[in-house]
Amino acid sequence: MDPSKRQKYVLVTGGAGYIGSHTVVELLSAGYAIVVMDNMYLNDINIEALRRVERLSGRPVQFFKGDVTCVSDLQRVFSLYNFWAVIHFAAIKAVGQSTRIPLDYYYNNVTGSLLLLRVMKEFNVKNIVFSSSATVYGEPDKCPVDETARVGPVTNPYGRTKLFVEEMLRDLCASDPDWNACLLRYFNPVGAHPSGLIGEHPQGIPNNLMPYVIRVLQGRSPYVHIYGSDYDTVDGTGVRDYIHVCDLATGHVAALKKLDTKPGCVAYNLGTGVGLSVMEIVKTMEKATQKKIPYKIEDRRPGDIATCTADASLANRELGWYPTRGVEEMCEDMWRWTRKNPMGYDGEILVSDEDDDSS
Ligand code: UFG
Repeated sequence: MDPSKRQKYVLVTGGAGYIGSHTVVELLSAGYAIVVMDNMYLNDINIEALRRVERLSGRPVQFFKGDVTCVSDLQRVFSLYNFWAVIHFAAIKAVGQSTRIPLDYYYNNVTGSLLLLRVMKEFNVKNIVFSSSATVYGEPDKCPVDETARVGPVTNPYGRTKLFVEEMLRDLCASDPDWNACLLRYFNPVGAHPSGLIGEHPQGIPNNLMPYVIRVLQGRSPYVHIYGSDYDTVDGTGVRDYIHVCDLATGHVAALKKLDTKPGCVAYNLGTGVGLSVMEIVKTMEKATQKKIPYKIEDRRPGDIATCTADASLANRELGWYPTRGVEEMCEDMWRWTRKNPMGYDGEILVSDEDDDSS
């Protein structure tokens, strides 16, 4: 018998992306047998990301090129390997873009998830970790927000795709006790692997704060636009719960272990519980980089809320998961990745003497 049929694998959809690639490193170091399925939307960028993951972990990554919206791709990968669980990252994620091309978002994120679940059912694979978002809470009534808070109304199509897939998984688990789903609600993922080998590949002008700050540090934009200084927060600027991408990655390993206990459908916040204002982020980044960061205070951004932080005590208790990296580390790691890879994966990796101590 083909050995790949006997061994039990975890399928990681979207494993060549930002959070996916960091999670693959953690899964490999925890000893999981995995297969990455990715449509390689960014071609060479995604290929290079996986190459670096292999370099970091010293292990080959089994890879299948395929798209979650293509049933024959899904059926092919499920017939090639014996999966026991799926970690489902594959999705598009730009809030602003989702308001312009909502059908692409519903197709990729909702239809893609639906087709994946149908093929999982066909092959009797009924364990899934789903990449969700704190955006499902819309504007929470209280912060820190816990998982008992109501979900929605959500203010943009991207967020609604996450909420719809959560609801689909809830219905599915209620219909059949063999299904188990961990819905991981990410707060604000930032940072990069401390090696500086993998990180977030910049695409166009970023909407999110941290990648925009990086862009200013690189001299590619003149200043940071601070959207609002009159919120009811510590210094008037918006407060968020930033979480290091490597902590997020270990959250997925913990969720995978949880699936073994047959929990049914459970949602977990993945955040630190620490709220940081835009100004605090700018100042910490200045310290990490030893550079001045110019900024301008502007009007509030439509749709933004004052504060959004996580009560992650359920994940602490039930998954035994605790984030360990603070904001300084987030900024330092992000800067190391940027210095080594000014154009992301698109270009030569630059190494200087001061990088030698990075592991
Ligand atoms: N901000 C600025 N200037 C910028 C960008 C952002 O001042 O150039 C401010 C925002 O007003 C907000 C904070 O920085 O106060 C964080 O904004 P981000 O755009 O980085 O992140 P959001 O909290 O708006 O949204 C992010 C993800 C969503 C996800 C959500 C979950 O982009 O996909 O976190 O909490 F749903």
